Amino acid sequence: MSSNSTIRSICCIGAGYVGGPTMAVIADRCPDVKVTVVDINQDRIAAWNHPDLSKLPVYEPGLDAVVERARGRNLFFSTAVEETIASADMVFISVNTPTKTRGLGAGQASDLRWVEACARTVAKEATGHTIVVEKSTLPVRTAEAVKAILGSVDSSSEQKTFSVLSNPEFLAEGTAIRDLANPDRVLIGGENAEAIDALAEIYQQWVPEEKILRTNLWSSELSKLTANAFLAQRISSINSVAALCEATGADVREVAKAIGTDSRIGPKFLNAGPGFGGSCFQKDILNLVYLCRHFGLPDVADYWESVVLLNTWQQHRIARLVVQKLFGTVTGKRLAILGFAFKADTNDTREAPAIRICKDLLEEGAQLAIHDPKVDPEQISRDLNLIASQAPEEDAGPTRGALSGEATWWPSPDVASAIRGADAVLILTEWQQYRELDWSTLAPLMRKPAWVFDARGVVDPKQVESGGLNVWRVGEGDA
Ligand code: UDX
Ligand code: ADP
Repeated sequence: MSSNSTIRSICCIGAGYVGGPTMAVIADRCPDVKVTVVDINQDRIAAWNHPDLSKLPVYEPGLDAVVERARGRNLFFSTAVEETIASADMVFISVNTPTKTRGLGAGQASDLRWVEACARTVAKEATGHTIVVEKSTLPVRTAEAVKAILGSVDSSSEQKTFSVLSNPEFLAEGTAIRDLANPDRVLIGGENAEAIDALAEIYQQWVPEEKILRTNLWSSELSKLTANAFLAQRISSINSVAALCEATGADVREVAKAIGTDSRIGPKFLNAGPGFGGSCFQKDILNLVYLCRHFGLPDVADYWESVVLLNTWQQHRIARLVVQKLFGTVTGKRLAILGFAFKADTNDTREAPAIRICKDLLEEGAQLAIHDPKVDPEQISRDLNLIASQAPEEDAGPTRGALSGEATWWPSPDVASAIRGADAVLILTEWQQYRELDWSTLAPLMRKPAWVFDARGVVDPKQVESGGLNVWRVGEGDA
């Protein structure tokens, strides 16, 4: 960091999937700026401070190395929210903004109670001039609310002033460190040129100037929602075509390649799968839908809502298809679920397609052996709303649960033990290790006739079939 930089001390409120990695990279690239990430969740902060870097609360390739370099030097994790805000020149708000579950806008609007609480704490604790940066994805015009709260502070006794900026984060989980180190663009929205320059100066330490885009506050907030809506729309589009491919004998991978070579369409984000998950896409589109209705644009709202409806449909469709292929019933049958995270290279399960698909199968009375290399089994219990049972003894035959039709699940430490005795395997996350499975040794472990349902298109169907198994691959029709 150049010594004439305006910002010496940064506080980031929220040590989650966005705040943690983003601040780690800022601290790494700006060694002269003190960066403190605060959170009210003590366990999370303790995990960020854990000497064993494999225990960090967020799994991201490359994150451990960045944290190791900066932690204790100019990167700190703390629960001292108030003190850290008081001594900061710049405060990032990076807290959770889930979809509201009740009240006005329930099911669509973002729940801004944590953002509001933060703004109130900042209003109370800040000293001198503080630049407040919205990092969480927020509905358009949230900055207005933040500004109103900051503006209501009684500054007669002490000199406090604020500038509010919007600086949405475009990182994708699993590639967070790469995305942060080499972003397509950095977006800074605001009204105060000096504040914008101060934040731009931080990013200029490693991002070329032409990639730093300056906009007004509302454009910045809306750009984030729109980027996510466009990306999600591509996935729903390709998944809708996948269903048509299965019905007609086309192959969605061939179609994706054919259309992706059109430079106007481009090859990225055209992988058909079990539908999108993650903390952003569904939430942000629903937010957009809510905003459109609020601003009297019901047709625009319906247009975007269909992207989410198609996604949910795809997940139910896959569960339904599994049941149909297994003679119309999975009651008491053992199914191996490979992958629970919403995508590879993350331990995050928020909105993971596996949740809806597994719930549908449990509803049918299935017995699920779930394997995921990074997801904590306790998280799976919470997501499925069902406590894990003991893995059945090998060769013990049908379990008591199976005979009574009771739905159960248990965590499997490895792929082979998940697959042993199973009638079907469902691949729901594209972990690299699932691409490399040796089906000649796995196939004999299954009860025949057995199926592999590859919702991510990662297996080689010929190899699976040569093991005597039936294969269904997303988007592949019988030619
Ligand atoms: C997304 C945006 O990419 C990122 O810019 C924003 O900041 C946050 O939301 P993320 O949710 O981490 O990032 O992951 P992303 O890689 O976008 O994947 C989202 C979901 O779409 C995953 O479930 C993934 O499996 C699915 N997906 C993605 C597909 O099904 N097919 C594809 O071709 C790409
Ligand atoms: P994201 O994916 O956007 O980073 P997360 O849910 O992973 O979201 O992280 C948000 C974090 O913000 C959580 O660890 C939560 O404890 C923290 N948080 C929420 N409200 C506050 C607050 N008022 N003060 C400090 N931390 C907060």
